[in-house]
Amino acid sequence: MLVFSTRPSLGIPMIAIADEIQRRRTFAIISHPDAGKTTLTEKLLLFGGAIQLAGAVKARGEARRARSDWMKVEQERGISVASSVMSFEYAGHAFNLLDTPGHEDFSEDTYRTLTAVDSAVMVIDAAKGIEEQTRKLFEVCRLRDVPIITFINKLDRDGQEPFTLLDEIEQTLALDVTPASWPIGMGRDFLGCYDLIHDRLVMMEKGTKGALPHEGEACEGLNDPRLDARLPDHAVAKLREEVEMARALCQPLDVDSYRAGHLSPVFFGSAVNNFGVRELLAGLTRMAPSPRPQPTASRDIHPQENKVTGFVFKIQANMDPKHRDRIAFVRLCSGHFKRGMKLTHVRTGKQLTMHNPTLFLAQDREVAEEAFAGDILGVPNHGQLRIGDALTEGEGLRFTGIPSFAPELLQKARPLDPLRAKHLGRALQQLAEEGAARVFRPVIGTDWIVGVVGALQFDVLADRIRTEYDVPVMFEPTTLYTARWVSADDSALLKRFVDSNQGALAEDHDGDPVFLARNAWHLERAAEDYPKIHFHKTKEQT
Ligand code: G4P
Repeated sequence: MLVFSTRPSLGIPMIAIADEIQRRRTFAIISHPDAGKTTLTEKLLLFGGAIQLAGAVKARGEARRARSDWMKVEQERGISVASSVMSFEYAGHAFNLLDTPGHEDFSEDTYRTLTAVDSAVMVIDAAKGIEEQTRKLFEVCRLRDVPIITFINKLDRDGQEPFTLLDEIEQTLALDVTPASWPIGMGRDFLGCYDLIHDRLVMMEKGTKGALPHEGEACEGLNDPRLDARLPDHAVAKLREEVEMARALCQPLDVDSYRAGHLSPVFFGSAVNNFGVRELLAGLTRMAPSPRPQPTASRDIHPQENKVTGFVFKIQANMDPKHRDRIAFVRLCSGHFKRGMKLTHVRTGKQLTMHNPTLFLAQDREVAEEAFAGDILGVPNHGQLRIGDALTEGEGLRFTGIPSFAPELLQKARPLDPLRAKHLGRALQQLAEEGAARVFRPVIGTDWIVGVVGALQFDVLADRIRTEYDVPVMFEPTTLYTARWVSADDSALLKRFVDSNQGALAEDHDGDPVFLARNAWHLERAAEDYPKIHFHKTKEQT
C-alpha cells in the first residue's frame, strides 16, 4: 500500500519513489548473431533521443564478430563499458537496456546479465526464424520467468509468412504468442506495420539518413478511408483480411500472461528502416514490467522497500590499464540510492562509501546523484566487489540465481618467463574473482588450470594478463574433460573423497574443492563410487 509520508533522512515523498520505480523498464535484447540486435539497439536509442544519428552503436556488432577487431574493441574499454548499459527516456519512462555479448563464447556473461533484467526483447530474423542461440537464451529467460516481447526483424527482405513465423515460435519454444502489430507486405513491398494494440497505422516518413524519421498522419482503425488513400489497393485488402484472421485465430493479448512469462506479444518490423521500432517502444512502455521483486536466500526483496539493496552481476576490469580499477555493475533492487551513502558489503561485512557511482548513458557516463530499483550503477572499486555480492544498508542478504558455470574447456596457464609465476598466480586469482574465468589449483603440482565456457575467452584472458598484469602467458591444452564442484552433506565423507582422489582434485579461487575429470567415464565412475558426493555443474556465486 502506498503511504503519503516523507522519509526524514532523504526528504523525498514515498509516492515519488513509487512513481520512479513504476516508470522504469530494465531489459535486455536476446538474439542469434546477425538477427539485428545491434541495429535495433541503435534505433531504440535514436527514438529515445539518446543518440542523434544512427551508426554509432552499429560498428560494434560487426566488430565484435571478427576476432581481431573484437580484441581491438575490448581494448577500447571505455566504449565497451559505457555501452554495457544504455539508459534513455521515452514517453515519460526510464529505460535501462543491458547489452549482452553476441558471441556465444561469452554466453556466461549473457546469462548473468539476464539475472539483472525484468524483461527481454527477443529479436528474430524473419527469413531464419528461431535459431540456436535464440533458443538457448530463451531457455534461460524461461528458467527465471523473464517476460519476453518478440520482434521479428528484416521484413524488408523476403522471409517467411507472418502466420508461419508465429506458428514456428509457438511450436519450437512451447510459448503462447499473439501479434501486437501486423506487417503490411514484405520484401520490396513492405510498407510498415499496423498497430494492433491501438488499432491504428502511423506511416513513417523518411528522415535524412540515419536521423530520426518523422511520423506521418495516423489512420485510425482498419476502416479509415485514409488507409485506402495511402496504401495500394491490394495491400489494404490483404491487411484487412490478415488482421481479421489474426484476430480470429490468435489469442487476445493478455498482459498478465505475458508478465508471468507464458505469452509473448509479437511485433514485426525492419530495424534498419525504423519500421516497427516505435510500436515496440510503445509496447515496452505499456506492457513490460517495472522492477520486479528479486529472490534472496531468506526472502524476496520488493522494489518499494525503503532500504537500498542491490547485487553485482558483472565486473568490467581495467578500463584504464594503468590503474587496476574495476567497475562493478550493480542492479539496484530496492530503496532510494543517493551518492555518498554508505552501504554494507555483505560478504566481507565492510562499509563502502558510494563516492562516485556511475549511471550509463548511451555513449557517456555520469555520476549518479540518485538512483532507484531497476537502475544499474557502476561502482568503481579495486577488486573488493565480486559477481553475486550483495550491497545493503546492513541486512545480511544473499541474492540467489547468479550462476557460475562449470567450464567446458580447460587449459594450463604458463608464464613465458618462469620468474613471473607468482605474478601470474595473482593475475589469475583476480580474474577468477572478477568472474572472467574459472581458475583451479590442482592439489598436486604447481600448475594453474584455467577453465572457460567459450574458446575465445582464452585469447581475451591472455591479452588481458599481458597488458594489464605485464605477464606474457601461454595457454596449453590439457587432457582434462570437465570440472565439477563437489560437496557432501557429511563433511567427513567429503574429506575422504578429497583424500583418496588427490590426483584429480583442485581448489577454485575461493578454496572450494573441484573434481577435474579426465573423461566422461572418469566422472561417471567417481559418481558411482561415491553416490553421496554431489557433483555440481554450476556454483552459485557467494
Ligand atoms: P546483431 O547485432 O544481431 O549481430 O546484428 P546487426 O544489428 O549487426 O545486424 C546484422 C546485419 O543485418 C547487418 O548487416 C544489418 O545491417 C542487417 N540488418 C539489421 N536489421 C535489418 C533489417 O531490418 N533489414 C535488413 N535488410 N537488414 C538488417 P551487415 O551486412 O552485416 O552490416 P551492414 O553492412 O549493413 O552494416
